[in-house]
Order: sequence, then structure tokens, then C-alpha cells
Amino acid sequence: MSQLLPDILLADHEQIKSHLEELSVLMSKDETFDHEILELFAKCKSWICAHSKAEELTIYELIEQNPDKGNSHMLSFIYEGYEEHDLISRLLTEMGQVEEEVTAPFRAKLKVMCNLILKHIETEEIDFLPQVRTVLSEQELLGLGTMYLRERDAILKKRSGFQRPASSIYSFSLNSH
Ligand SMILES: [Fe+2]
Ligand SMILES: [Fe+2]
Repeated sequence: MSQLLPDILLADHEQIKSHLEELSVLMSKDETFDHEILELFAKCKSWICAHSKAEELTIYELIEQNPDKGNSHMLSFIYEGYEEHDLISRLLTEMGQVEEEVTAPFRAKLKVMCNLILKHIETEEIDFLPQVRTVLSEQELLGLGTMYLRERDAILKKRSGFQRPASSIYSFSLNSH
């Protein structure tokens, strides 16, 4: 069933928040093994990376390359969004270096990363997505939704060790309205 991009993004935000919540519960338990934490962290990392990248390739790029579609506020949001994605990605990469033991710096980075992600998601949901629904038509949002899912799933598949099938990424074209 086709879905509008903002609805898919909201559902994915919930998914990410629930993975982070699960991770923080696991880390607060005394009897948890480090490998359980690291496995769940790897799952969170894949979801966050796939979501951020697919978001950039669809709605961020569309507004950035077609400034007439959005407004100056949306454009500034996107530039801040890229920076926040980048910061989160750098923290995830540093945390990903930990292979066996959950260290104190890992715990500290996780806390900072969770706060960053929750704040980023909140701003996206309150400031950005409502404007996206206003400036784009339903048909455009459906097309972007399909494109987002294709990108996200290709990244998730690639991260889980499968080869990405060769396909053209950008078949979605803008409709004027
Ligand atoms: Fe984002
Ligand atoms: Fe997002």
C-alpha cells in the first residue's frame, strides 16, 4: 500500500525511538552481557543510518535543489539537519569501533547521541514535516514515500551484508502544482 512520505518518516522515528529505549533499558540492567548491548547497538545504527541517508536523498535534496518548492525556513532547517545527521553519524562510527566491551566512553557517547537524535526528531516532526505536507502535493508525497522506502531498504540490505541490486535511483519527477 502506498504511503505519504511524512507518515513513513513518523513511523520510522517511532521505530528508532523504540530501539533506543530498548538499548537504554538493556544498558541499565546489571546482568546484561556486553555482546547483547553491542548487537542491539548495531541494529540501531543500521536503522539510524538508513533513515538519515534515505531522508537526505529524498526530501532534503528535493527542497535543496528546488528552493521554490519550500521556503527559507525549510531550507535553513535542511542545512541544520545535514549537520545534525553528520554529528550523529560521526558518533555512531566512533561507537562502532567498540567490538567487545561496553566502555565508559561508549556509554557517554550513547547518552549524547540519544539526546541529539531525540531533539533532531522532535524538530523534524514539529517544524519540518508539517511544512512538507503543505508545500507538496499528495502525488509528490506518495512518489517520495516510494522512493524513500526503496532507498532505506537498499541501505538496510547492504548493511546486513547483501549486495544492492543495480537500479536507477532517481525515477521520481516533480509535478508542478
Ligand atoms: Fe533527520
Ligand atoms: Fe527523520
